Amino acid sequence: MSSALTDLLPHPIVQAPMAGGVSVPQLAAAVSEAGGLGFLAAGYKTADGMYQEIKQLRGLTGRPFGVNLFLPQPETADPAAVGVYAHQLAGEATWYETELGDPDSGRDDGYDAKLAVLLDNPVPVVSFHFGVPAREVVDSLHRVGSFTLVTATTAEEARAVERSGADAVIAQGIEAGGHQGTHRDAPEADGSGVGLLSLVAQVRESVGIPVIAAGGIMRGSQIAAVLAAGATAAQLGTAFLATHESGAHALHKQALTNPLYVRTELTRAFSGRPARGLVNRFLREHGPYAPAAYPDVHHLTAPLRKAAAKAGDAQGMALWAGQGHRMGRELPAGQLVEVLAAELASARTALSAGGAR
Ligand SMILES: Cc1cc2nc3c(=O)[nH]c(=O)nc-3n(C[C@H](O)[C@H](O)[C@H](O)COP(=O)(O)O)c2cc1C
Repeated sequence: MSSALTDLLPHPIVQAPMAGGVSVPQLAAAVSEAGGLGFLAAGYKTADGMYQEIKQLRGLTGRPFGVNLFLPQPETADPAAVGVYAHQLAGEATWYETELGDPDSGRDDGYDAKLAVLLDNPVPVVSFHFGVPAREVVDSLHRVGSFTLVTATTAEEARAVERSGADAVIAQGIEAGGHQGTHRDAPEADGSGVGLLSLVAQVRESVGIPVIAAGGIMRGSQIAAVLAAGATAAQLGTAFLATHESGAHALHKQALTNPLYVRTELTRAFSGRPARGLVNRFLREHGPYAPAAYPDVHHLTAPLRKAAAKAGDAQGMALWAGQGHRMGRELPAGQLVEVLAAELASARTALSAGGAR
């Protein structure tokens, strides 16, 4: 985020885009109205679905907001491994009385069509996940006045983000809920993810552009910590997942603080790419052998996840959540922004009082 945009935001608080129906326009509007940066998630939507949400959001707020895009994914998946996984999931399809999805349902997430909409109808901020946009894409968004942000999970990825011309980098720690925005899924690197405080410091020393910190942040005191480590703002997902306006399934919201779910894990079970979710039956049973095949596995399991949600069975749903999930607060989103901002202010006062001693 360029400093010009942070100047427009009363609070250095970004609501993470959350695909799968979570970051609905009502959530983004409530956050932006309260002085944070609300975000829409275009992932898994059609270009027109994205456009309709932008129009709805514009009707709810005149404040700045962002739209998040997924980068097209290379064809790296082994079709044989996807076939074996489909075989292993056959019992799930029988259990939920549905069919498995077609793994070949597309791997570009309608990227070009969505970009065309965003160039015709510019929005204040555009962010990218799962890779780095081409320099021309960043330049064209700049020409229409949009700020550009790109996720990175290592200092090396952050340098690639800076080279793309983007205005800021989102440093996503291993604590983060949902998908890791790693630029290239590399199974050989599994388990080497970097914790947020270390990542922010590494990225800060590697690039000159502003850094937005994401992963496991649930309290204003943690925002103060990442700002002290050199971040310009914090991006929170799980904290907003629990709010009144979040479009998350009721069972997903309840699971965040349900003592039945004691931990989170990174898994490929639902999508084929590492994503952090609450450990439930599906993740436990299929995570150990799910192949590195995104979005093939995402398409394959889509009907299972839908059927599990319809049946009210949280054990078969993708319960994305960050490591701080138990600290979730069920508040209106605008109120959460205010509470976080107040906690941040008192943590900063305490920090400067400590520094003065
Ligand atoms: C339910 C859910 C869905 C997510 N979907 C997206 C997405 O569509 N695009 C994206 O860039 N990040 C997505 N993320 C990751 C967030 O941008 C962010 O990195 C993460 O929420 C930060 O960690 P936290 O959840 O512990 O706050 C998602 C996270 C969650 C929890």
